Amino acid sequence: MSADAAIAVENLAKRYGTVEALKGISFEVPHGQILGLLGPNGSGKTTTVTLLSTLQRPTSGTARVCGHDVTAEAARVRELISLTGQEASMDDGLTAVENLSVFGRLTGLRGAPLKSRIDDLVEQFDLRDVRDRRVGALSGGMRRRVDIASALITRPKVLFLDEPTTGLDPRSRAAVWDTVAGLRSEGITVLLTTQYLEEADRLADNIVMLHEGSVAASGTPAMLKQQAGAAVCEMTLADRSDADRVVGQLTGLEIIEAPTDGATTAHPRVVLRAPDGMATVGSVIERLQTARIEVVDIGLRQPSLDEVFMQLTETV
Ligand SMILES: Nc1ncnc2c1ncn2[C@@H]1O[C@H](COP(=O)(O)OP(=O)(O)O)[C@@H](O)[C@H]1O
Ligand SMILES: [Mg+2]
Repeated sequence: MSADAAIAVENLAKRYGTVEALKGISFEVPHGQILGLLGPNGSGKTTTVTLLSTLQRPTSGTARVCGHDVTAEAARVRELISLTGQEASMDDGLTAVENLSVFGRLTGLRGAPLKSRIDDLVEQFDLRDVRDRRVGALSGGMRRRVDIASALITRPKVLFLDEPTTGLDPRSRAAVWDTVAGLRSEGITVLLTTQYLEEADRLADNIVMLHEGSVAASGTPAMLKQQAGAAVCEMTLADRSDADRVVGQLTGLEIIEAPTDGATTAHPRVVLRAPDGMATVGSVIERLQTARIEVVDIGLRQPSLDEVFMQLTETV
């Protein structure tokens, strides 16, 4: 384990009564990088964040933030980090700037330094138009932005974002993505939890996939896709009434996604593993032609992180 990682986690475990929320996970995050901690509900993401941010103590194992142990040096760790939880921690009745000011004062900032820090954050997060509006009246994405800005008021070295885009509409989600991507240029180390593979794929330098409290896989998005092996063949059917018939034509091939009975999409999608790449696609096209099944498109591509996750967790 390298001593100079921003976050270093080794065999970290947490039990709540009989529930083993974390079963001994290990990973590292180099300074200035973004880690995507990815997993479905209940996989242990929030537990990891609460242990790393010293809100709870591990049952066993160790975790260090900038070299400081989260248990033995909790106070020091708290000076270095900031956290935005799954639920925004702002006061809806206050304006954006008032909320930033509350957070600043909580950490001991006052007067001119506080004002100047707030002005910087308003600029950085593009909050000029909403600075004097009540946070309760803002869109979900804008609220998130104010929330993340307030987490940065102390200039943390490490920022924890627990599901920053859950529940947001696509436009707001994209705005939060821009915000997080912008943190990279500030040199802040970010641990971001998400249920969305696309989000981790877009933002994270490295991904740790959690499954029932254990690490199912980790690596760069590209490595994980490669680890899942073969490319996939994806096609879109021209006629949804072919949905049942197409599966019968693809015997011997591993279908990852097939239209469900009574598919209502006009053009159902079929995805299958293509262990032989172009040759698999060629064979598929031949079989479709023989059966007179029309497609809108068909192609060969790398598996998505969703498909990687499904494949990796099937065997855990
Ligand atoms: N305070 C707690 N008491 C008991 N069980 C908990 C507590 N917090 C979390 N758990 C359980 O630990 C597991 C992991 O939860 P959590 O870390 O919140 O997952 P995630 O954030 O990935 O959804 C779940 O089974 C959850 O029910
Ligand atoms: Mg959670």
